[in-house]
Amino acid sequence: MKKILFVGSEAVPFAATGGLGDVLGSLPAALMRESSDVDVRVVMPMYQVVAEKYKSQSKLVAEFTVQLSWRKQYCGVWAYKLGAVTYYFIDNEYYFKRQSLYGSFDDGERYAYFCKAVMEMMPYIDFMPDILNCHDWQSALCVIYLKRKYCYLEAYSNMKAVYTIHNIDYQGIYGFDILGDIFCLDSWDRYVVEYDGCINLTKGAIVCCDKLTTVSPNYANEIQTEYFSSGLHHILGMNKDKICGIINGIDVDYYNPETDTAITERFTLDTIEKKTANKLALQKTFGLPENADVPVIAMVSRLASHKGFDLVRRVADEILASDVQFVLLGTGESELEDFFAGLAARYPDKCGVMLAFDKNLAKQIYASADIFLMPSKSEPCGLAQMIASRYGTVPVVRETGGLYDTIKPFNPDIGEGNGVTFQTYNAHDMLDAVRRTLAFYADKKAWNKLVANAMTCDFSWDASAKTYLKMYESL
Ligand code: GLC
Repeated sequence: MKKILFVGSEAVPFAATGGLGDVLGSLPAALMRESSDVDVRVVMPMYQVVAEKYKSQSKLVAEFTVQLSWRKQYCGVWAYKLGAVTYYFIDNEYYFKRQSLYGSFDDGERYAYFCKAVMEMMPYIDFMPDILNCHDWQSALCVIYLKRKYCYLEAYSNMKAVYTIHNIDYQGIYGFDILGDIFCLDSWDRYVVEYDGCINLTKGAIVCCDKLTTVSPNYANEIQTEYFSSGLHHILGMNKDKICGIINGIDVDYYNPETDTAITERFTLDTIEKKTANKLALQKTFGLPENADVPVIAMVSRLASHKGFDLVRRVADEILASDVQFVLLGTGESELEDFFAGLAARYPDKCGVMLAFDKNLAKQIYASADIFLMPSKSEPCGLAQMIASRYGTVPVVRETGGLYDTIKPFNPDIGEGNGVTFQTYNAHDMLDAVRRTLAFYADKKAWNKLVANAMTCDFSWDASAKTYLKMYESL
């Protein structure tokens, strides 16, 4: 039995702010479904926001003290079994009993503690993994600790480290004053983490890991170029033999229009006409005229400019000049929040905006809209385009990262393609893609084919889980 430990800062359903949480909540189970020869477990912090029902059903499996430089900190390890997968939680209230997951002044110290605790935990819980798969910068120090410190201990000496990049824009960058004092690294480790005059934890993990993965094949290529690398293309170029891109899947049971209780009316491709009831309910929720015929364009996204909102802003009036409705759900940068609140006020009959994070409303939108817009500047994988497709909502995407890998442009002549795409990060190119989509919408035969193509795509984890297992096997 091969043992694999996933290390990350969030996982659905316990605590999540984005796609990383979805992956850590669904890939481990997919791996265990795919092979009876792996035991995949996950470790994350015990945040305040973890629901009481999970906390009260967790078991305390270890208690010890973590030495973080001169600090001696308590660590409790709790275990909770979610289906076949054991999730461990690192418990320390000083570090993790906070209102939100990220954004504290001492995030560097919080995740250094987390990584140190994870490395120390293994013998206590009697789970020495063959493979340590760390996800994003919050867990990067585990890779660095393994290769710079722990691998010299017998029990850790055969362990391999995989580092998975979900978004290269977040790297964990700090000043050198905390190299020893917080990160517990020595002067001879300095060159491993040093980048551009700072400590860069992502760079350290890239250099130290045995295999570097990212969440789509296209993004694996993109991050080796200056435009996408957030400064790390040289390091990635030097480590390119270690890189592989594996596309994410989605949890097709959780996102299933046939069984989803969060939506107004359940449907399948054969009963697609029932989607209309969802649309009418959504229009009501957003205070828009209830009209089954008008195409609804939707976005569900963090309001960050790299998600393509600059483009939407630029041509919002032109989009809304057509006979359409536009709905948006998300929170984020205040400038964007202000803009879209203003847009809804200017177009009360055409534009509905909810500045919120609401999982169930998100599902209602996926199930109700006709067109799902995702014009990201960069998108490592993107999950929403796959979720929208599953609910028969046609994705309009920019050809970048995982959007390029998952969505192929529709060609009505041959009936192939599962969405509409555009290449250049340009507002009018996006507008043109939206207009082409509206033209398909107006042609019922073409539209039905496009919706069917979108809905029947296999975005489950099955194929990717196999690829992950092969990658682990190669180590
Ligand atoms: C990050 C990326 C997103 C990806 C997700 C899961 O949130 O921005 O594109 O889908 O991680 O890997």
